[in-house]
Amino acid sequence: MIHPLQQLRAEALCEIDSAPDAQALEAARVKYLGRSGSIAAWGERVKTLDPEERPIVGRLLNEVRNAVTAAVAERAEKFRAQKESDALAKIDISLPGTPSENGSLHPLTQMLDHSIQIFRRMGFALADGPDIEDEWHCFDALNTPPEHPARNEQDTFYLPDGRLLRTHTSTVQIRAMQAAPPPMRVIAPGACYRRDEIDATHSAQFHQIEGLYVDKHVSVADLKGTLEFFMRELFGPETAVRFLPDHFPFTEPSLQIHVRSKALKRGEQWIEVAGCGIVHPAVFEAVNKARGDNAYDAEKWTGFAFGLGMDRLAMILFDIPDIRLFAQNDLRFLKQFA
Ligand code: DAH
Repeated sequence: MIHPLQQLRAEALCEIDSAPDAQALEAARVKYLGRSGSIAAWGERVKTLDPEERPIVGRLLNEVRNAVTAAVAERAEKFRAQKESDALAKIDISLPGTPSENGSLHPLTQMLDHSIQIFRRMGFALADGPDIEDEWHCFDALNTPPEHPARNEQDTFYLPDGRLLRTHTSTVQIRAMQAAPPPMRVIAPGACYRRDEIDATHSAQFHQIEGLYVDKHVSVADLKGTLEFFMRELFGPETAVRFLPDHFPFTEPSLQIHVRSKALKRGEQWIEVAGCGIVHPAVFEAVNKARGDNAYDAEKWTGFAFGLGMDRLAMILFDIPDIRLFAQNDLRFLKQFA
């Protein structure tokens, strides 16, 4: 004879297995396993049975409850998995992706990185200073007299408090020497600012690499050797370099550097790329005064300094016709250097 509990189990399992969705399954669960469901009702009934019958029916009831609980869990898991795979099926993995464009370094950054690398190979360390400077670092300490045209408000951006945007990176020569005694071998790349009329070769902001070498017995020959090596590394071994006399307040003698190379688009033309010279003793004196010692004793130490125009060098190397292109962020231009 089939016990009514066995009958109940068969019904419950059948209903659970044929539940068409999660809602129907939940209804079946409540009907059989809920607090006032049929299995709970059997629990009450067992308590009223004869002592001999009670454990047998009790065990059967337990079996039925476990079987029904397991069946509900299994069916629920089936619905969950089904829902997940339905969601995944909606994703079309054959659709083309959204391409992300690769960035690249700005041509000036490339130029700067390359130049720094060449100087580092010659033992130059990096130094830096602020873009917003005081007149002393920009002019006085560099032996530039008060009446010098570079100090003019027409040429220099002055802030209301009397400070200024540095007009050259030579300020870092002073800052480096204030910070450490000789020997000194540093380069200082950075931005400079001038109130120039803006055109194809002039911009209000441009970039320089300053160099300073202070040691015993430093001569013009050292200066020439260093800068010739640099120019040939940058523009190729066939590059010719010439030095012409010039004037800067902070060097004596002062020279300008020209390069010429068949490898360059401008071919046989000499192009001015830098100023340089032997550090003027008055610069050492100003530094000593600020330091409060005689570390840069002009009798003991000599040095050379140079300032390279980076925008100019990049324009020559990459054959760029207009300095304004560097700042216009035109991707058609920038992509050519990717
Ligand atoms: N500061 C100069 C300029 O901006 C360039 C320069 C010339 C730098 C001679 C130097 C130097 O260090 O020795 O035009």
